Amino acid sequence: MTHTQDGAVSAQPEPSGAPKPTFSTLGLIPELLRAVADQGYTEPTPIQVKAIPLILQHRDVMGAAQTGTGKTAGFMLPLLQFLAPQASTSPSPARHPIRVLVLTPTRELAAQVEESARTYSKYIPLRTAVVYGGVDISPQMKQLHAGVEILVATPGRLLDHLHQKSVNLSRVEFLVLDEADRMLDMGFIPDIKRILSVLPSQRQNLLFSATFPDEVRRLAKELLRSPVTIEVAPRNAPADLVTHQVHLVPLLKKRSLLVRLIRSRDMRQVLIFVRMKRDANRLARQLQQDGVVAKEIHSDRTQAERMQALEDFKQGKVPVLVATDIAARGLDIEELPFVINFELPHTPEDYVHRIGRTGRAGLPGEAISLVSPDEVKFLEDIERMLKRKLPQAPVPDSLADSRHPQRPRETRREREPRRPPARAPHPPRTQPAAQPSPSGFDFSKPYEPSSPKPEPAAAPPTHGRHHRPTAALLGGGPVKREK
Ligand SMILES: Nc1ncnc2c1ncn2[C@@H]1O[C@H](COP(=O)(O)OP(=O)(O)OP(=O)(O)O)[C@@H](O)[C@H]1O
Ligand SMILES: [Mg+2]
Repeated sequence: MTHTQDGAVSAQPEPSGAPKPTFSTLGLIPELLRAVADQGYTEPTPIQVKAIPLILQHRDVMGAAQTGTGKTAGFMLPLLQFLAPQASTSPSPARHPIRVLVLTPTRELAAQVEESARTYSKYIPLRTAVVYGGVDISPQMKQLHAGVEILVATPGRLLDHLHQKSVNLSRVEFLVLDEADRMLDMGFIPDIKRILSVLPSQRQNLLFSATFPDEVRRLAKELLRSPVTIEVAPRNAPADLVTHQVHLVPLLKKRSLLVRLIRSRDMRQVLIFVRMKRDANRLARQLQQDGVVAKEIHSDRTQAERMQALEDFKQGKVPVLVATDIAARGLDIEELPFVINFELPHTPEDYVHRIGRTGRAGLPGEAISLVSPDEVKFLEDIERMLKRKLPQAPVPDSLADSRHPQRPRETRREREPRRPPARAPHPPRTQPAAQPSPSGFDFSKPYEPSSPKPEPAAAPPTHGRHHRPTAALLGGGPVKREK
């Protein structure tokens, strides 16, 4: 591992001949080794190899690694190791102060990260809790009152708890911003600032994401103390195991093409992204009319509906989930084979996250984008960020449009290299296919203390890659977020 001047750790492969790192050589305690073995993890992923030792050395870390490469365990395992010596079965709340705080941009991701914390800490008597908006606050209050060491939260609901004095963050030693670039954009920054203001200043800070736009990198330096930057792949790189494909298609023919793709490819589990909530509703309804079983997930649905839609999709009960960007970040849907962008995102980083719902944990995936003429500029933004053209697939004549000429085809179909997983494959994952997945996203609204409320409206689209709003950490900006 090489540290550059500004503390960056390069992603050089281990020198050949050096023994392969294992979870044990990374210095993890037996309780954690047992827990990861139970998960079928045979070896640490590259981000885990780099992050775990640095975190164990109490360094602040900004960790960038592709989607689906195990960042969660990369930060959670060393933190659990720090907590282990004082873990206690005592019923006294005083013995269970909040020491780890993890913030995430969506409720579904918060729930998932808390589940990971529980999974990895199964052999250590630690307590975990998750708090997010859209559900009754009282059970959360009770749980916090009883004491938990690890709290995973969305910022809005955490602020509600602070306002109601139902949470005490004065003993927090470790702060994690998962999907850190999202957490540090304008939508969240005012909430994050409020939360930071009640945390002890002596703490270890960890930022993780698959994408770190330059402005976030700069901002992160205000938050981190002599940070180490870890990069496992070129900046903002998409997952290795995803095959990309673009169909240039007139807007009005997208729906027919979508149905044709779902049928002809026998897609039994596909996550479809649109930009707006109302479009998610409409498309799901239209697909139903076309005889395709579909549900939608976005921030105007109740939390119970959101969770149900995601769960039904994960379990394969619903093959098609139409989602806004609420589902773009962090969600781990086991073996999801397909992601379709029915509309392109307006920020190229969002493309990386959306398509990163497939091609995870060493399994391949396909990302298909339906691009209408008015979206070509967003495609170009994405290609500029990825530093390559995405391969274009032909559209059947009946769906093509002479006014929307196909771009020159690649001479050879561009396929991502089917490399071995960036990490050990899961235990027996038989066949990568057929089942469904999740949805939507947003952050809007200034902070107002409240009890459960419907979610804020989706973030307005930003145009072009340089427009991801990022506020100065100490300066603030318009607030849009999810609780
Ligand atoms: N060492 C490992 N070996 C095998 N599987 C692993 C390992 N570490 C994590 N995984 C699995 O890989 C999957 C992806 O992990 P995780 O959700 O942490 O990815 P991520 O890097 O946070 O992705 P994203 O950027 O989308 O949030 C999970 O199903 C997790 O259980
Ligand atoms: Mg993640």
